[in-house]
Amino acid sequence: MNSAAGHAFDRVTARLETHGPVVLPALLLCDFGHLAREVEHLESAGAAALHLDVMDGRFVPQLTYGQVVVDAVRRAARVPIEVHLMVEEPERSLAEYARLGADIITVHVEGLSDPRATLEAISSLGPRAHVAISPGTSVERLEPCLDVCDGVLVMSVEPGYGGQRFNPVALEKLACLADLRARRGASFLLGVDGGIATDTIAAVAAAGAQLIVAGSAVIRSDDYARAIDELESLARNAP
Ligand code: DX5
Ligand code: ZN
Repeated sequence: MNSAAGHAFDRVTARLETHGPVVLPALLLCDFGHLAREVEHLESAGAAALHLDVMDGRFVPQLTYGQVVVDAVRRAARVPIEVHLMVEEPERSLAEYARLGADIITVHVEGLSDPRATLEAISSLGPRAHVAISPGTSVERLEPCLDVCDGVLVMSVEPGYGGQRFNPVALEKLACLADLRARRGASFLLGVDGGIATDTIAAVAAAGAQLIVAGSAVIRSDDYARAIDELESLARNAP
């Protein structure tokens, strides 16, 4: 929980500093018939945090889940959770996800009429405020809100489905954002989401990704611990 004692996400940031990039498994392709078991399994496999894809069938074609499932995951999980909102009018549900215990709320810049105001609203509710950017959107769209966000999630697939192929346009965006951050003395974290596997993770880590979402590469493996370990070690040892 987020309290005066510190933010729940601080322990992930601390791990990032000591161990290098952190892999956040995405639950999208997991066995929802055994959700609590999947969460437990991912935690005991070493997941430092979990990534939850909320899709409304409008902002993106697929409809996944919303507050009820996020609540179930929150109650089953001990690690922090990131709620990635791929919905129209995300402003309407921020308070509810914050109340349910989201540690990060990630909203798409493409869906916001006033990105600064939305990110500030998230922060004032307690969660870390992250902004996502789709492959076809230029980094300039983020300019007005880089000083009020805690993180940027660079999408390396078109949002909407798990198991898609990595789009290398994300590498340029990560490098550009890392450069902007250094020039401005800003401190937002850099994340990446989509198509991450053993053949793509070193490149995103080398380009500056710190929070690395991996769905199919973990969930479709037969050993979650080995998959997370292998991905994190490839990221840590990236050139
Ligand atoms: C895509 C989602 C991703 C997805 C990642 O819209 O935002 O989080 O679950 O899955 P993989 O790693 O399989 O691309
Ligand atoms: Zn996602």
